[in-house]
Amino acid sequence: MLNFSFENPTKIHFGEQQIKEIQSEIPKNAKVLVTYGGGSIKKNGVYDQVKAALSEHTWFEFAGIEPNPSYQTCMKAVELVKEKQIDFILAVGGGSVVDGSKFIAAAAEFTGEPWDILANGAEVKSAVALGVVLTLPATGSESNTFSVVSNLETHDKLPFASEYVRPRFAVLDPAVTFSLPERQVTNGIVDAFVHTMEQYLTYDVGAKLQDRFAEGILMTLIEEGPKAFSEPENYQVRANIMWSATMALNGLIGAGVPQDWATHMIGHEMTAVYGLDHAQTLAIVLPRMMAEQKDTKRGKLLQYAERVLGLDITNEEAAIEHAIAATEAFFHSVKMPTRLSDYNLDDSVADKLVAQLERHGMTALGEREQVTLEKSRAILLASV
Ligand code: NZQ
Ligand code: ZN
Repeated sequence: MLNFSFENPTKIHFGEQQIKEIQSEIPKNAKVLVTYGGGSIKKNGVYDQVKAALSEHTWFEFAGIEPNPSYQTCMKAVELVKEKQIDFILAVGGGSVVDGSKFIAAAAEFTGEPWDILANGAEVKSAVALGVVLTLPATGSESNTFSVVSNLETHDKLPFASEYVRPRFAVLDPAVTFSLPERQVTNGIVDAFVHTMEQYLTYDVGAKLQDRFAEGILMTLIEEGPKAFSEPENYQVRANIMWSATMALNGLIGAGVPQDWATHMIGHEMTAVYGLDHAQTLAIVLPRMMAEQKDTKRGKLLQYAERVLGLDITNEEAAIEHAIAATEAFFHSVKMPTRLSDYNLDDSVADKLVAQLERHGMTALGEREQVTLEKSRAILLASV
């Protein structure tokens, strides 16, 4: 096992009717900014629950944080934070609202040009306190330190990480996910699955517990994912998916193990240039990444085949082929397409995305830094 330091101080309130807990989580004298997206929270009752819980607080609101939150929108919220002297941000929404709010929290206290946080890795030294009411289980952003923000003018989609933006608390009520459109249910399941794979499907370092945690998340998503469509009103199904998504990227399964993230880096470029949803890009790239990296990932691919998928691995080559096909079939079982051509994209995508990867220094991706630009190109061409 590799050395690691692990801390996850985000307090989770999980379950039905837990939104009221924000009342006691946010200091009474705080000036609160409630941030949200395009208005889904006004239709499904979440806004009203938040409003009721904040009845004793002074609060303002900022709406319109879009999917793949933009730097341009976030900077408008930064102005409001400064103008109203906000000292607590409550993000109510999916990963985009949470990520956007993390950037807002950091940018509001940043000296200099906040774009540098994303583009040049400028250090975040403080941030406005942040809490979350999560409405879409997918990213794990509700209890991690990551945020991904896009610049609409330059077609950059860039991540940053800081302990200062980790949410103080997050409310996870699976019942609020009943109102999700199918496309977002699909996205959430696939994103959580691929987060787990990015930290599991690397090489063995003897981290048995991390492996088994990861396998547990993968098996739960494979078992429960399709039920979110066949039994859309099943609370237990939603609860298992929601907790799996949080656990997939809260630091636990990634502690002390090598991590990959090549699929994500290629996927981010696809979103930045072609506007595909984040999880749509992952489902296109991962199966081809598994095939391209099958020699370096051999041991873990066989472990995945045997322990997660229950396959016979006597014939190793056949088992690996089968495991890759089963992964793609799982994506299809939760209504996720897995080819560029499903979005009317062709092999011209490869040149464009490889140029983006080069521009962003993504020339040696993966746990062994073996995914060169040439390999990324091959993966993209095989994904048409
Ligand atoms: O904007 P509203 O009206 O709220 O609608 C949203 C949005 O249109 C809707 N939605 C959310 N909850 C709903 C709902 N509709 C009905 N009922 C509900 N309960 O869903 C749409 C998509 O929301 P979004 O937040 O964009 O989705 P997601 O949670 O998948 O977040 C994706 C973003 O997170 C980033 C992605 O790159 C992408 O920008 N990621 C963040 C990570 C992190 N911080 O750790 C890691 C991930 O790998 C990922 O990169
Ligand atoms: Zn992701």
